[in-house]
Amino acid sequence: MKTVIVALALHSAAALVAPTRPARTSALTAAYKPMDGVNAAVDTNNRGEAWVSQMQRPRRNRKSAGVRSMVRENFLTPANLMQPIFIHEDSDEVVPIASMPGQSRHTLDSMVEQVKKGMALGVKSFILFPKVPDDLKTNFADECYNPEGIVPKAVAMCKAACPDATICTDIALDPYSDQGHDGIVLDGKIVNDQTIEQLCKQAVCHARAGADFVGPSDMMDGRIGALRLALDAEGWTDVGIISYSAKYASAFYGPFRDALDSHPGFGDKKTYQQDPANGREAIIEATLDAAEGADMLMVKPGVPYLDIVRRIRDVVDIPIAAYHVSGEYAMIKAGAEKGWIDEKAIVLETLMCFRRAGADVILTYYATDAAQWMVDEGEVCL
Ligand code: PBG
Repeated sequence: MKTVIVALALHSAAALVAPTRPARTSALTAAYKPMDGVNAAVDTNNRGEAWVSQMQRPRRNRKSAGVRSMVRENFLTPANLMQPIFIHEDSDEVVPIASMPGQSRHTLDSMVEQVKKGMALGVKSFILFPKVPDDLKTNFADECYNPEGIVPKAVAMCKAACPDATICTDIALDPYSDQGHDGIVLDGKIVNDQTIEQLCKQAVCHARAGADFVGPSDMMDGRIGALRLALDAEGWTDVGIISYSAKYASAFYGPFRDALDSHPGFGDKKTYQQDPANGREAIIEATLDAAEGADMLMVKPGVPYLDIVRRIRDVVDIPIAAYHVSGEYAMIKAGAEKGWIDEKAIVLETLMCFRRAGADVILTYYATDAAQWMVDEGEVCL
């Protein structure tokens, strides 16, 4: 016992003195006294200047704006951006969304103005999200295929005002569900195949109104094939499907649910949206959707899931869209409002990172602002 204590005391005393270093062994290390201007790593060139000999110097390809632009690997243009637009008919007011500064619930007239503004800046695609009054919400969400409903009306108005705009709609029951879920709820469960019947009616309704693409965001199994058949059976073979293939059960959707008043009435969406811990599962979803006839695949949310964009990009050749979602928008806005970050620089960098990860299309609430910034910077010729 005594010896152990003595040994410990000796050990800790030794720790107080500077650790001994191994003796210098080579002429090279002996000559290395960088603080005295003797640095074995730095030679002298023929002009007597410091020279660290090396054949590859990657900085040569970054030396000027001209060279950097010559070797740039990825490009971001307004045409890659899709602008989501929230719409409502509760009043004639454009209603700001508190958790998404700069975004509003638009009236149908101001929605058309938004589409025109985007088109003038080179943003050519738009996706509509309706806020539906509570008295129209039911478990079966039948309002979702009402031809007189807000979305078909909105689609027709957009296409009439801007025939060249690509108008997309969201396919899911949640804005119309009194349960706040993307599908029909029976015995506390979100039922798959009955929900698909409603989704098919919703997609055909939007196609009849003139939608260019429908975007199923519901995550029911087998809905892409069913939607393709439903559309084709009525002759809508040129209406495309952008499938939210890898949609995660994410906390980043919070501000969107504020915008549409569509928070789940009970529980969460984990029995249909994916577990954020899983990556391989996204490949299963993506390959199924591609096989069922999706025209594009979507990953959502965006930045925290760029690894999923890349993994899908590597195995599927159809275009990939990624959704820079409401929570991501809100975080940038909050940081910018505090003066802590440079909003414009952060947004343009973020959107470029989506492209580098492999996204062809980026859904972002910043679409129109980013296009304006790109135009201002002379980065884009419209
Ligand atoms: C609805 C839907 C959601 C989003 C797009 N479509 C919300 C959800 O699944 O709860 C989120 C978009 C965003 O957060 O910006 N099916």
